[in-house]
Amino acid sequence: MGQLTSLMQIMQGAARKAGRALNRDFGEIEHLQVSRKGPADFVTAADRRSEEVIFKELSEKRPGYGFLMEERGEVAGTDKTHRWIVDPLDGTLNFMHGQPHFAVSIALERMGEIVAGVVYNPAVDEMFHAEKGTGAWLNDRRLRVAARKELADAVIATGTPFYGKKGHARFLKELHQVMGATAGIRRYGSASLDLSWVAAGRFDGFWERDLKAWDIAAGLVIVREAGGFIAEIDGGEDVLSTGNIVAGNEDMLARLIEKLDAAR
Ligand code: IPD
Ligand code: CA
Ligand code: CA
Ligand code: CA
Repeated sequence: MGQLTSLMQIMQGAARKAGRALNRDFGEIEHLQVSRKGPADFVTAADRRSEEVIFKELSEKRPGYGFLMEERGEVAGTDKTHRWIVDPLDGTLNFMHGQPHFAVSIALERMGEIVAGVVYNPAVDEMFHAEKGTGAWLNDRRLRVAARKELADAVIATGTPFYGKKGHARFLKELHQVMGATAGIRRYGSASLDLSWVAAGRFDGFWERDLKAWDIAAGLVIVREAGGFIAEIDGGEDVLSTGNIVAGNEDMLARLIEKLDAAR
């Protein structure tokens, strides 16, 4: 690929810096401070440190832009047209259990549209990135979604509602429908990486409900720039606000939606 744009340099720079902080904490998880936000909803000192690094970096580089971040919530900026959407550690549960499958996710929203995203897994140094109109990349390799058309050949990723969350019964029905038709199902525990892996062709598709904007904003542009498609599971307008997301190539998306509809 050619030279990174200054926007990409800023986003990747922040993600790498946060990634270094996460790697340090990952090396010492036995000492990690953990608290609970709700049932099966943990936050650690590593989530907070990573968020701090990203907030500081991006505020310095683009003063005035607003933020939506998982841990500190909405931070209004003076520039009303730009907002960073940030998950400082996507896959906290993996992280806490010493599993090297977690990521920093940063998206830029411009006038309500996601125009750029980076999803960085510092444990394996994989930087997924895309800017609208210029393709999706893993480090310096161009990405393309998988070409498989049939569910019978497909590996599909999903996310399970945790203990205490609504939607278990519906999820089990959906799982039953999809599982009965696919070669394999995976639940790896980081929605931003699930989407990035769809972009990379490692998964043929992905669905999950009740995600937050910070879980999916960056992955969304990465999937689209890799030639993939995203839809709101129930046909709603705005997947970022409902968080009910399904992704894949055009054929796979249609087949997945068919199965999810049949679960109703
Ligand atoms: C979680 C992960 C997980 C998804 C959960 C999210 P977090 O994010 O993306 O894959 O199933 O719904 O909350 O809390 O680890 O940032
Ligand atoms: Ca969380
Ligand atoms: Ca998340
Ligand atoms: Ca998180």
